[in-house]
Amino acid sequence: MIGGPLRFVAQSAKEGSFWLPPRASSFAENTDHLFYFIYYLCLFFFVLIVAAMVIFMVKYKKKKDGEKTADIHGHTGLEIAWSAGPAVLLVLIFAWGVKDWMSLAVTPDHDYLDVRVAGRSWAWTFSYPTDGIESTELVVPVGRKVKLTMVSRDVLHSFFVPDFRIKRDVLPNRYTVQWFDTLEEGEHHIFCTEYCGQKHSAMVSKVIVKSEADFEKWKVEAGTGNLTPAQLGAKLFQTKACATCHSIDGQTVLVGPSLGKKYGIREHVLVDNVEQEISVDDNYIRESILDPMKKIVKGFAPAMPSFQGQLSDKEIEALIEYIREIK
Ligand code: CUA
Repeated sequence: MIGGPLRFVAQSAKEGSFWLPPRASSFAENTDHLFYFIYYLCLFFFVLIVAAMVIFMVKYKKKKDGEKTADIHGHTGLEIAWSAGPAVLLVLIFAWGVKDWMSLAVTPDHDYLDVRVAGRSWAWTFSYPTDGIESTELVVPVGRKVKLTMVSRDVLHSFFVPDFRIKRDVLPNRYTVQWFDTLEEGEHHIFCTEYCGQKHSAMVSKVIVKSEADFEKWKVEAGTGNLTPAQLGAKLFQTKACATCHSIDGQTVLVGPSLGKKYGIREHVLVDNVEQEISVDDNYIRESILDPMKKIVKGFAPAMPSFQGQLSDKEIEALIEYIREIK
């Protein structure tokens, strides 16, 4: 009886089931088996307990006035069974979970692809230290083990790829590590699964699994070596998540003011709550990137984190160049 549904589960889960998304990493299978073990265990005890409850309700119901309550004594054997049985099952689940957790937590010391992950409100940035690439999507070659070293630039985030069955918190000032491998080419969702503010639900990205050859091609395209400053600025505007808070069309108001048609105009800002009129020039943009609390554009909340220490001079200049061009 158990063989039937379990076989069904093993087949269907690979393509995804009612409970779980498709499996796309090698340890997803173990995770799913543990999940379904607990699921069917719960189902078994739910039916057993509810059935016993209903039977006893009927059996021991007072049937006429004056009838005495049944005089029931303890049953030592039964009591030991229902204490020891669940204890054994819980230890089994614990041991199974720890075994799987260890294989997730400890990166195998084989050849793996090193990727740095930065979470910030509200976007993910993936950098490839050996190739000098920064990307808003996690691109990996199929079959290769990938080690993620993750950190947050501001508040707590959590990195979650349901198809891989991996989830790990991303913390400020501390690195957390997570690894995975992939089974075939394709795309998978990345979610932030720790509430991190206004646009937490928009903090999504994708894992793109490519063949080795396509991955090599992508690395060449994604490199920043021969970009003009404005092109580099446009890229940084995405990878550094500027775009989650600033539109570039000059109209749409996200969290901060739109940066389209901004360069060179006069702007009303608050400096220590005193209104001033300033001109949007290179110095103002640089200052706003490094010390955003200094001059707050009138009508906006002081919400922007500082990018001090996160951008090189070259990158700041590239961003200024880009903002100058979006008219
Ligand atoms: Cu980042 Cu939720």
